[in-house]
This record gives sequence, C-alpha cells and structure tokens, in this order.
Amino acid sequence: MTPAARVAAAGLLVAPLLLAAPEGRADSTIPPAVAGVLRQIKAADPDQLAVSEEDGRFLRVMAASTRAARALEIGGAEGYSAIWIALGLREHGGRLTTIESDPARARRAAANIRRAGLSPIVTVVSGDAFAEIPKLRGPFDFVFLDAWKRDYKRFFDLVLPRMPAGGVLLAHNVVNKREEMGDFLDAIERDPALLTAIVRPAHEGMSVTYKLAP
Ligand SMILES: C[S@@+](CC[C@H](N)C(=O)[O-])C[C@H]1O[C@@H](n2cnc3c(N)ncnc32)[C@H](O)[C@@H]1O
Repeated sequence: MTPAARVAAAGLLVAPLLLAAPEGRADSTIPPAVAGVLRQIKAADPDQLAVSEEDGRFLRVMAASTRAARALEIGGAEGYSAIWIALGLREHGGRLTTIESDPARARRAAANIRRAGLSPIVTVVSGDAFAEIPKLRGPFDFVFLDAWKRDYKRFFDLVLPRMPAGGVLLAHNVVNKREEMGDFLDAIERDPALLTAIVRPAHEGMSVTYKLAP
C-alpha cells in the first residue's frame, strides 16, 4: 500500500469520529471568510441541494489525505461542496474543476468561490457535464459525483477511463437515493478492478471507490 493510500485508509477509519461534532461548531482550521460563505450558501439553499456539513468535512479530509492533484466535481450547484474539496486540495497544491449545468447556479458558485478566496484553486465550468468533461484535460485523480442520480452510471463510464490507478471516485446520496442508481452501485461494487466502501458521514451516504488498475 502506498503512503497516500495508507493515509486515505486511515482517513476513512477516523472520519466518523472526526465528523461527529455538531454542525456549526467553531473550527479553527477554516478561515472566517470561508466559514461565512459556507454558512451563507446553506442559509440560501431552499432546495437543499448542498451536501451536509459532515459530508463536506469528509470530502475535505479525502481530498487532503489522497493528495489529489486534479479533481473533478460533477454537479457543483452553488459551490458548497467545491469549497470543502478546495480546502482539502490546497494542503498539497491540488486543483478542482466543478461543472454545473444551471447557468445561474454556476454564476453564484463562481461568486461564492471568489468570496471564499478559492478562485486560484477552483474553476467553475457552466454547462452540461456530459459535453464538458471530454473537453477537459485529465487525468482526474479525485472525482466527486453529485449530479442527478439517474445519470451516475453514465458519468462513471465517462470518467473511469480518465482516472489513473490509485484515483478515487466519491458519489453522494448512495444510501438515501440508492434505488435511483442501481446500475451505478452494481458497477462500483462488482468490478474486481475497484475497491469500494460505503460510508455515512451523514444520512445520505457516500461511496468511496479506489481504482486499482489503469
Ligand atoms: C445535488 S446538486 C449539487 C450540490 C453540490 N455538489 C453541493 O454539495 O454544493 C446537483 C446539481 O447538479 C446539477 N446537474 C445535474 N445534471 C448535470 C449535468 N448533466 N451537468 C452538470 N450539472 C448537472 C444540477 O443543476 C444541480 O445544481
């Protein structure tokens, strides 16, 4: 096991404990300006699109512990999860591209990321990820899938060949919306070239898939 994989595995084991703190606790590892933007996004999220704070913290730990260099998010909404991922990526100089198909949401995501001071780390692409991903430079060593659930398998088929061995793919809502993504869950759990764990930082659940073979 590589050092990065060992750290990632340790992150998985301790994550439930680290994430047990109540939402909204003071966190000295998050600059006040960033914490303020995260709170504002949550306060103005009537459709509750953003991941929970616990899931955000988990994404941050995963992005940092895997030392991801080129990350991709599919379904950026207003930038909440992108900010958490960026906080992890900045530990080792990684970069994130987040794709959002709703133009107004994509504009607000870019503004939120700018206000958080994370524009040097995050690029927001406004457009349909099925059309935009083939235009992006890969490979992607960290992928977070959080678009409409019925599309997960098609996105998985699109990005897996663009991931290196050792890359990690995370997907949101794999517990509370699992009936909408049976084909995706079958793919990540049955492929012998992949290692998958399902974790529950919060009730929605996240899959964490490690790519063994190129
Ligand atoms: C659950 S929300 C994402 C929440 C975000 N990850 C967060 O935690 O802040 C799903 C988003 O995916 C976007 N979306 C759906 N299909 C898409 C596609 N094909 N390409 C890009 N974005 C898409 C939707 O417009 C919506 O804003």
